[in-house]
Amino acid sequence: MRNILITGGAGFIGSHVVRLFVNTFPSDKIYNLDALTYAGNLENLKDIEDAANYEFVHADIQDLEKLTAIFSDKKITHVVHLAAESHVDRSITDPLAFVKTNVLGTANLLQVAKEAWKNDFSNTLFYHVSTDEVYGSLGNTGFFYEGTAYDPRSPYSASKASSDHFVRAYYHTYNLPVVISNCSNNYGPNHFPEKLIPLMINNIIHNKPLPVYGEGLNVRDWLFVLDHARAIERIFSKGTIGQTYNIGGHNEWTNIDLVHVLCDTMDEKLGRTKGDSRKLISYVKDRAGHDLRYAIDATKLQNELGWEPSLQFEEGLSKTIDWYLSNTDWLENVTSGDYRKYYEQMY
Ligand code: NAD
Ligand code: DAU
Repeated sequence: MRNILITGGAGFIGSHVVRLFVNTFPSDKIYNLDALTYAGNLENLKDIEDAANYEFVHADIQDLEKLTAIFSDKKITHVVHLAAESHVDRSITDPLAFVKTNVLGTANLLQVAKEAWKNDFSNTLFYHVSTDEVYGSLGNTGFFYEGTAYDPRSPYSASKASSDHFVRAYYHTYNLPVVISNCSNNYGPNHFPEKLIPLMINNIIHNKPLPVYGEGLNVRDWLFVLDHARAIERIFSKGTIGQTYNIGGHNEWTNIDLVHVLCDTMDEKLGRTKGDSRKLISYVKDRAGHDLRYAIDATKLQNELGWEPSLQFEEGLSKTIDWYLSNTDWLENVTSGDYRKYYEQMY
């Protein structure tokens, strides 16, 4: 039996990964370690909270002592590490919070795993979930490959790049069995409405301005969150130790085209006149250091492990909008209190 520690499991992607692992590996124990920051929400996991092979552990990855006790008490054998500060805009206003959680927190976990497992690395794995933003910004053509040189340009991506380097350092120096994946932009249910897609959906629902940075011509490569979770499960089960796998949707959109699709789809679903929501679009000051384009080449993952995205974007987007429209309580919960302050400061 494996004792699998998933960090950040109360967040957006983490909650989908926890659910998938709980259902896919009934004879393993899944521990969800999360500090429950503004982005962590146990409501995301209501449907599996009573599963026999699931347990929540409230902890901060900055707390080395607590991590050491958890590894020893729970006899952790595997780690899937997602806990992070994840929003680029927040990293611009508070970069040190990103250093503390993403760099120091990851180094803490690596150190605790190495110490706990050092006498026998067999049947152990440290899986680090990272981002395509570590590769920097593309021009109008080309893709990010696993061998693309790192060139992070925001405090968020610099902190993730640094954590990736620490993971590789523990592999090379101590033989810690590691695997890393770098994924493009996710979307789907439970996405916190500070990020582009859920923020636009929430604002369209409430007829609020839709803040598009700059000219809206930056390009992102969007992947449905469950497809990312499936890729993580595949790499966790079949990936080669020491390797990196890129995960992406081959699905590039300029922000403004994407916002147009969201407006038109929501007009239809909400019974509004076509064109109404587009009138809410408001071009605002650009993000500092805004990366122009991300695009992942996921051929290695496809060829070696047989993974590919299962959903077309239009279908995924429609499902996502439907989820938000039927989970307005969830949206209201996460946008009360601190979110209001954040929103006023940001926009
Ligand atoms: P999120 O912000 O929705 O969730 C992060 C989770 O981590 C939250 O539950 C939060 O409470 C927890 N957390 C934060 N700081 C913590 C700490 N110090 N100790 C313990 N828990 C802490 O993030 P997400 O979008 O789900 O991203 C998850 C991971 O995937 C991150 O590592 C991110 O870099 C990576 N990633 C995200 C995307 C994306 O499009 N969202 C794409 C590629 C990679
Ligand atoms: O590429 C993977 C990364 O994708 C992840 O590592 C990050 O955790 C995740 O947050 C995401 O980063 P982005 O910065 O690409 O996502 P965000 O949703 O913040 O922004 C997407 C694009 O939309 C980006 O070009 C900025 C723009 N934008 C964003 C917001 C919030 C706007 O125009 N207006 C907005 O209000």
